[in-house]
Amino acid sequence: MFRLLMLILLSHAWSVRPHQPPQNIFILAGQSNMAGRGGVTNNTKTNTQVWDGIVPPQCQPNPSILRLSAKLKWVRAHEPLHADIDVNKTNGVGPGMPFSNAVLTKDPNFGVIGLVPCAIGGTNISEWKKGSFLYDQTVGRTQAALQGGGVIRALLWYQGESDTVTLEDAELYKQRSNKFFVDLRYDLQVPMLPIIRVALASGQGPYIDIVREAQLQNDLLNVRTVDARGLPLEPDVLHLTTPAQVRLGEMMADAFLQSMPSTIKTGPSYSDAPTKFSNFVSYSLMISLLLCSLCLILNFR
Ligand SMILES: *[C@@H]1O[C@H](CO)[C@@H](O)[C@H](O)[C@H]1NC(C)=O
Ligand SMILES: *[C@@H]1O[C@H](CO)[C@@H](O)[C@H](O)[C@H]1NC(C)=O
Ligand SMILES: *[C@@H]1O[C@H](CO)[C@@H](O)[C@H](O)[C@H]1NC(C)=O
Repeated sequence: MFRLLMLILLSHAWSVRPHQPPQNIFILAGQSNMAGRGGVTNNTKTNTQVWDGIVPPQCQPNPSILRLSAKLKWVRAHEPLHADIDVNKTNGVGPGMPFSNAVLTKDPNFGVIGLVPCAIGGTNISEWKKGSFLYDQTVGRTQAALQGGGVIRALLWYQGESDTVTLEDAELYKQRSNKFFVDLRYDLQVPMLPIIRVALASGQGPYIDIVREAQLQNDLLNVRTVDARGLPLEPDVLHLTTPAQVRLGEMMADAFLQSMPSTIKTGPSYSDAPTKFSNFVSYSLMISLLLCSLCLILNFR
């Protein structure tokens, strides 16, 4: 009887994998303010962009935050998150790390987070349309991230600065971004994928308000907008500073956690299912064992 119990306990211990891939996948996409330029300034002597390397506590690495590298490997996440993705630019602090740390602080049982950085500086919404290089990269990297059996929890999207230059692009922003969201949800096979997007704090052209208007009124379900207007900007008046990115990440975490109930309703993931099943089997066995011993004890009397 005791041996059987030990056997069950041991087999249960073996079924727990030592290095589990992350179960909570987040796509980070958009342009420079998603890639992260916090702390990046001009070095006037060398005339190059340099990152100051300052990483506030809210952006520090955490064993529960991984990132998918350009080579599609899970690695410990640290700033700058897009260093091997937005390779032609100098990357700094973005919203991804403070977002993840805030989610884990507010929901300690959330589980390991896997970030999938896909943002590239200077890109307009047309460069993200279905069939483009950036679109295919995003779908491909996300599918690679799901190989470990995780669930896509949300797309974090911060883009549109490049669409403020001409009136035509600004007016078409709403239609183009909605099409992008619908296509991406379809191709990732998550029709109600939560999208947390940012309303612009800045832009490269004069039509910022037209793009912001499109971002603030959501026609699609499960899309939430957090407003970055008023957050501090670097001297280039285009990029969020490091403290601004910390604040933005926390705002996005709040928006995501508020959207959680509808996320949970999508039911157990494929990866949860076997674990829950094996738990169920071992609990059932334990209860049968207890009942058996009870019967034996009663019989002996
Ligand atoms: C970086 O620049 C090279 C050369 O211009 C270009 O081929 C490549 O697509 C760029 N990559 C990104 C991620 O912008
Ligand atoms: C978007 O950016 C690409 C690359 O810079 C450019 O070729 C294209 O004309 C832009 N598209 C629109 C609609 O602005
Ligand atoms: C850095 O210098 C470039 C030109 O060398 C300029 O276009 C850019 O606005 C400058 N950025 C900042 C943050 O001053």
